Amino acid sequence: MAVFEVKDLRKSFAGKEVLKGISFSVEEGEVVAVIGPSGGGKTTLLRCINQLERIDGGNISVNGMDMIAAVEDGKAVYADKETLRKITLSIGLVFQNYNLFPHFTVRRNITEALVRVLKMPKDAANARAHELLKKMGLADKAEAYPCELSGGQQQRVAIARAMALEPKILFFDEPTSALDPQLTAEILKVIRQLAAEKRTLVIVTHEIGFAAAVADRVIMLDEGVIIANGTPDEVIHNPTNPRVKEFLSKLDE
Ligand SMILES: Nc1ncnc2c1ncn2[C@@H]1O[C@H](COP(=O)(O)OP(=O)(O)OP(=O)(O)O)[C@@H](O)[C@H]1O
Ligand SMILES: [Mg+2]
Repeated sequence: MAVFEVKDLRKSFAGKEVLKGISFSVEEGEVVAVIGPSGGGKTTLLRCINQLERIDGGNISVNGMDMIAAVEDGKAVYADKETLRKITLSIGLVFQNYNLFPHFTVRRNITEALVRVLKMPKDAANARAHELLKKMGLADKAEAYPCELSGGQQQRVAIARAMALEPKILFFDEPTSALDPQLTAEILKVIRQLAAEKRTLVIVTHEIGFAAAVADRVIMLDEGVIIANGTPDEVIHNPTNPRVKEFLSKLDE
């Protein structure tokens, strides 16, 4: 069953179309890598999915819930608040720059949404935070502040925070691009572990070797259009589309 679906998604900024009718779906337990040149629309796609941008047309559905309820005068009309809230709670997002709350401890970064949004008792929220930090190899950092952690550690806290609400699907936007190679390896290891647990993941990445190794499917987004969608073998190892070939050959230089 598709746990996530994007249908003919369109988004413009000041009259310039950045997403030009994108469609794809993600099955439960699937790991999808999204690659493509800078400015192709990858972050915009994730921002639309996370409701940080309003979409102009098409639809996004998460776990069977449609973000857009209707089209009126050619404009997308969003679903009711409760549906949008449920969609938000079904999605986890990890950004390039971690976006942790700097004035909260690592533990509170993870428990905040559990206590405030899910109304979970503090003890239970702390227990879940502890469990997630242990999984991320950060059990001893619960009382530290983000500024006391390395970039790789901060990113692992961000992943723990995204997982705390037990989302149906986790999205990553270039989770390693702010990190040096050693810290990148740390994060890729964590993502591999999540993939091995059969979690549903969508990972925007410039790490093509990693995408080829970990993803079930690779999507390439170029100038707001999906120009390839297939297995790593099809898209990365044996590309047929000339634009994909060109993109991959430039990365080798
Ligand atoms: N808020 C905005 N206002 C105007 N234009 C925007 C805005 N956000 C993004 N764009 C434009 O949309 C296009 C796609 O940008 P986007 O950030 O989605 O690309 P990307 O694929 O994530 O690139 P990168 O690999 O560099 O992160 C770019 O041309 C960008 O300039
Ligand atoms: Mg981006």
